[in-house]
Amino acid sequence: MSFLIDPDVHYLNCAYMSPLAHAVEEAGRVGMARKQRPWTIRPEDFFVEVEDVKARFAEVLGAGRPEQVAVLPSVSYGMAIVARNLRLRPGQHIVVAGEQFPSNVHPWRRIAAQRGGEVRTVTVPDVAEGRGAAWNEALLAAIDERTALLALGHVHWADGTRFDLPRLAARAREVGALVVVDGTQSVGALAFPFDEVQPDAVVCAAYKWLLGPYGLAFGWFGEALQDGEPLEETWCGRRGSEDFAGLVHYTDDYGPGSARFDVGQRSNFITLPMAIEALRLVTAWGPARIQAHAASLWAPIVEPLRRAGYRIEDPAWRGEHLVGLRPPAGTDMSAIASRLAAARVHVSMRGTAIRVSPHVYNTPEDMQALAAVLTGR
Ligand SMILES: Cc1ncc(COP(=O)(O)O)c(C=O)c1O
Repeated sequence: MSFLIDPDVHYLNCAYMSPLAHAVEEAGRVGMARKQRPWTIRPEDFFVEVEDVKARFAEVLGAGRPEQVAVLPSVSYGMAIVARNLRLRPGQHIVVAGEQFPSNVHPWRRIAAQRGGEVRTVTVPDVAEGRGAAWNEALLAAIDERTALLALGHVHWADGTRFDLPRLAARAREVGALVVVDGTQSVGALAFPFDEVQPDAVVCAAYKWLLGPYGLAFGWFGEALQDGEPLEETWCGRRGSEDFAGLVHYTDDYGPGSARFDVGQRSNFITLPMAIEALRLVTAWGPARIQAHAASLWAPIVEPLRRAGYRIEDPAWRGEHLVGLRPPAGTDMSAIASRLAAARVHVSMRGTAIRVSPHVYNTPEDMQALAAVLTGR
């Protein structure tokens, strides 16, 4: 087993935070040991791991061009970079989905308020069947000539609805809008259709489906943002920063690609090696196997849950790794939460959905434990 999960715990909550794989933990320990002996840290070490981690993230994203990846501390930081460089004119708007994660909402609210624009929030349509399809249609209809930005996830972070990014992004491009994706709840577990989406930016936190440490995120920034203004003026983002002796020969030129957007102290000797190991694992499993494993876990319990009155999105409009179960009307959510806790089944209660997010370490027994609580058996 690659992970340390207590035998009596049913951890179905990777969307909250992934457990740390042994290999990732070990890389962190090695990193700490290096800091005990700083004389073993060479100037080139400030760059080698940064390049390695960028290449691995670009590969997982299916993006290529690793130099366009930036090392960030959080999703909100990456979105702030986009907000700083977005040319939002009065009367234009930014399209988001209802109840989207706040890091992909707050920056747009601020800039809309500052520039006389608007955040156009497309809430989930109130239909009994076909919610996923209807939500995607509503998003498509919201994009028009006044759209400056489409800011979405690939799956909704709380209820798992999958957004048809290739179709929505094509419409956004048609009207000249930028496309920014928060990949935190999908990249690593669900294949990202990079070439079809042609995003202008993708930002992902490392600590969920990328299996990495907390306090780290990655951003891929496309041509539209390549000459953008960073949030901070770092020394390491400058051209020639490898020459430590020449650092005070200040230059206004930035390093290649997205180097300007890298956070200060990007070369973290503990978290970057951990992220490298984590991305190695993610690549070795691959999204197809992760999805197939999760689908096999769902297969035996979907019908029993539906019979018990739970609504579950059709496979066409969900990912298998993150599924929002909607209980029958009138269900006492806090009673369910207590029963789940008593059975040591870990999921997340998000709004009116119970978010279940399995990964490779989960077993049919975990799903049976979940179903037993939810169906009251
Ligand atoms: C969709 C999504 N984006 C981003 C984050 C984390 O954002 P940040 O890195 O700004 O804390 C989360 C955390 O739950 C999330 O679910």
